[in-house]
Amino acid sequence: MADLLDQLVEWLRIPSISTGGGEPADLRRAAEWAAEHVERAGGSAELVQIGDGNPLAIGDFRANQRDAPTILIYGHYDVQSVGDLGAWDSPPFEPEIRDGRLYARGASDDKGNFWPLLYAACGLAREGELPVNVRVVVEGEEEAGSETITEWMRADERGADAAIVFDSGMVDTQTPAITLGLRGMAMAQIEVRTAVRDLHSGMYGGSVLNALHVLHHMLAQVVPGPDGTLRDELRAGVLEPAEAERISWERLPPGTQVLSEVGGREAYPGAAAEYYERNGADASLEVNEIVGGEPRTVVPAIARGTVSIRLAPGQRATEIGPELDRLLREAAPPGADVKLKWHLAEPSLFEPDLPAVVLAAQAIERATGTAPALVRSGGSIPVVAEFAARDIPTIVSGFGLPDDDIHAPDESYRLESLELGERTARELLTGLAALER
Ligand code: BES
Ligand code: MN
Ligand code: MN
Repeated sequence: MADLLDQLVEWLRIPSISTGGGEPADLRRAAEWAAEHVERAGGSAELVQIGDGNPLAIGDFRANQRDAPTILIYGHYDVQSVGDLGAWDSPPFEPEIRDGRLYARGASDDKGNFWPLLYAACGLAREGELPVNVRVVVEGEEEAGSETITEWMRADERGADAAIVFDSGMVDTQTPAITLGLRGMAMAQIEVRTAVRDLHSGMYGGSVLNALHVLHHMLAQVVPGPDGTLRDELRAGVLEPAEAERISWERLPPGTQVLSEVGGREAYPGAAAEYYERNGADASLEVNEIVGGEPRTVVPAIARGTVSIRLAPGQRATEIGPELDRLLREAAPPGADVKLKWHLAEPSLFEPDLPAVVLAAQAIERATGTAPALVRSGGSIPVVAEFAARDIPTIVSGFGLPDDDIHAPDESYRLESLELGERTARELLTGLAALER
């Protein structure tokens, strides 16, 4: 545990932010850190950079036996921006332990979640006890669109017999999980321009276009209705969850509790009760940001916004993205210049009876004493859809919890989750040796 923790603290000190404001040198250092650990444990490793993307750390460990299956392990070293520093109790890149938790940006998402998996692979390799070939893939753009890893995966000829992704969480402190479903996403940065510069609202108001009004009208066409449901065009492809899945959701904490624990308020009467269905198996759209105007009597010439739609398994980002683009553009009057910049990520869904899932569930039960719940998450991990497209059965798991406050101030990870992660990773890597190639 001492090594596991001390080394993680080093990684967490590197401010490898991919969502704006990060230094390329820091991103590279965080990638090198991962590659060096693979090499020190006797594996081979390299950094792969495509264009001006953030480098991937790619590594390989050979199994201690012939004809072993190949397991790809994935995590991301990039982290989200830290927001208002004043909202943190300790600086985000000076890791600190308080009450059994390690506090730092990336503590849970994803350095602290992933590191025990890589650490276990390194440990088994050193001991000569690694019964599977391991391909290590650590990316630095997960929070920013995953372009590099997508391109790398599409060109990769080796593939894998299964993948393990530690970038998700448990149901609660007593219940580990395998995340079978992840949502996809289509996200747009919007810019609306209606004039060369802001104009006096007394002299021109009522006669000229107002960029904020235009943006407001565009967004009004795509936000959910009062019952929380999106228009049909944006729900195209949504699959009804299987009856067995619906029944299994009844064993999870009730949606009312999930929302009240984070201080969330129901979007419409009854929304909380439908939490699992809405979150895991339906599309949802958020206006994430609107910027523009001034608190003066102007007619604003520019309005900017960010809108994103989470896509349920069964939907295609390459279909819904253009549909959303069309709906937004059609709502703008002829005089407005509209620019939209898109980021797409496909959803993914794995069958619970895949051999790799069955073996992984047994391994997780051996490590934690509890059979994992098979769940869907409303979040997105873009590369997982690439694994699915390559028919690589993927075990999305990890030991994050809602209290970890990922993406927020005072992000943290339980020391207990680090231990659980390492123990589970060892069982997974050894248990998956039984996989047919
Ligand atoms: N690890 C998260 C995704 C996640 C969150 C999985 C909660 C399971 C439970 C990941 O790092 C993330 O934040 N992804 C982004 C992707 C987006 C920027 C394309 C997300 O979901 O917003
Ligand atoms: Mn993550
Ligand atoms: Mn994240």
